[in-house]
Amino acid sequence: MCGIVGYVGPEASEKAIDVVMDGLGRLEYRGYDSAGVALVTDGTVVTEKRAGKLTNLRSALAAHPPADSATAIGHTRWATHGGPTDANAHPHRGGADGKLALVHNGIIENFHALKAALLADGAVFTSETDTEVVAHLLDRAYCRTGDLTDAMREVVERLHGAFTLLAVHADSPHTVVGARRNSPLVVGLGEGENFLGSDVAAFIGYTRHAMELGQDQIVTITPDTCSVIDFDGTPSDGKAYEVTWDAAAAEKGGYATFMEKEIHDQPHAVRDTLFGRTDETGRLVLDEMSITEDELRSVTKIVIVACGTAAYAGMVAKYAIERWTRLPVEVELAHEFRYRDPVIDHQTLVVSISQSGETMDTLMAVRHATHLGARTVSICNTHGSTIPRESDAVLYTHAGPEIAVASTKAFLAQITASYILGLYLAQLRGGEYGKVAAEVLTELHGIPDKIEALLGSMDRVEEIAYFMSDTRSVLFLGRHVGFPVAMEGALKLKELAYIHAEGFAAGELKHGPIALIEPGQPVFIVVPSPSSEHGLHGKVVSNIQEIRARGARTLVIAEEGDEDVVPFADEVIRVPHTSPLLAPLLTVVPLQVFALHLSTAKGLDVDQPRNLAKSVTVE
Ligand code: M6R
Repeated sequence: MCGIVGYVGPEASEKAIDVVMDGLGRLEYRGYDSAGVALVTDGTVVTEKRAGKLTNLRSALAAHPPADSATAIGHTRWATHGGPTDANAHPHRGGADGKLALVHNGIIENFHALKAALLADGAVFTSETDTEVVAHLLDRAYCRTGDLTDAMREVVERLHGAFTLLAVHADSPHTVVGARRNSPLVVGLGEGENFLGSDVAAFIGYTRHAMELGQDQIVTITPDTCSVIDFDGTPSDGKAYEVTWDAAAAEKGGYATFMEKEIHDQPHAVRDTLFGRTDETGRLVLDEMSITEDELRSVTKIVIVACGTAAYAGMVAKYAIERWTRLPVEVELAHEFRYRDPVIDHQTLVVSISQSGETMDTLMAVRHATHLGARTVSICNTHGSTIPRESDAVLYTHAGPEIAVASTKAFLAQITASYILGLYLAQLRGGEYGKVAAEVLTELHGIPDKIEALLGSMDRVEEIAYFMSDTRSVLFLGRHVGFPVAMEGALKLKELAYIHAEGFAAGELKHGPIALIEPGQPVFIVVPSPSSEHGLHGKVVSNIQEIRARGARTLVIAEEGDEDVVPFADEVIRVPHTSPLLAPLLTVVPLQVFALHLSTAKGLDVDQPRNLAKSVTVE
């Protein structure tokens, strides 16, 4: 929820502030209501922090340039305890001498009790945060032990909740110590310099050598060393890996916003997620699938857990996986799953979907499923993040870094990966769809070109968005796999344009929502392909007529050549033909583009919408 950066360079280095500010710039998507840095310099720790976006901190640093430093930590915040003020911004200091500074991502659940004890012992607090409690505890522990790592070990034992912590102390000027529990932290390994970050974007401009940290671990970096211990002090080896993308992938690449760039990245996201997953005979081979084939064959039920956009990808997956495997598939919001005593056993396959791999609700659902004996598979976009680490198997999406808060390319990559999983299970189980897996895959390989063509024809959608910039409410209708697409279209609009938007199953219309239709009400309708089974196409065309008759302004997303919709559409937005089950990979694109441009037309911040952060790492 917050972004954290740490850096230690060679003694003579002056670049700590630049590295940390650069890292914060790349992590700002994680939280952007205040930001701060702490630099170890000349036997002291200097901090600068400001409420508001990173630009405020940049201006403050420009007005008062800090002294040169080789060691620094930084933080960009999404407020939980205490509003977004200068005082509540991180880093926090502990102790009267101001020699220690700390940044924190997560929530310290027992901070009230800890704070009461510290107050009784004379501690003076300057913020309303839970973090400052940890800073005081750490300072006291350092005074006792004289060692920042030992002090961190002592303190983490007393904390409940989720946290990533980074600390520096003026008396250990070439050291940054980090700790993590239920919250992300990765190491960047450089030459004569080392880095810490909430994710690899923090240091991707400097090194692609990264190291995963496990749960409940403490890491100590100096310019030339990196050592890891468990909370109980046992030495541990982190798992080193190479980041497969470079700094350019985390930049806007000439687009005005990250979201626009990421929408245009979508053909690559789908292509790269499909890449390398078949052998020379065309059969799917999933190297990362570390659950045995026999175990997968014995699965009797699949439960998909996810939140937000990832949950809509899960809803699309349900239609496809059930169809191809004949296994029952349930989709559940991760935060609901855990608290309703779900019926799960060792023959249940629980599939989590998460772009970040750090969403706390989804992580907790995976843990709950493991506790109940289920096998777990994670569909995830972030290498080495917590959810895949704690799952029995992982199917990585290869969308590249997604920086905009509103998820776009991750959604398409998640749907693609879930199709791959469904086809793989079908292949293992034999039966009708095992045989057609190759055909579906061939069609999937053609999708990126279709997305590209579609993206080239979005001018009218952009115009419509600008005309509708003062619209107060937009409805979205869809049926079958078009239903989750409608929900996703509504979510994008809520997130980005802050207007009322709702997605409905088109079949539900007459059961209530049609009462919302009044003259001029804009409604997007995601029309199934005319080749859909069970007369679905005709049913949705009837829905369009029903709402048009009541004055709705109908914005119809329909396949090329579908002329049935024309008489009832105020606007027709064409998508290329594809099999009905694969259509969401295309039909959602105009809705993403619409939300992007409506937000832009309203002059809003597309990449960093209000109140949101990219990954929700608290429950
Ligand atoms: O990182 P995750 O995929 O687990 O995140 C899940 C949701 O928080 C996320 O999809 C959210 O709904 C997006 N802001 C939607 O655009």
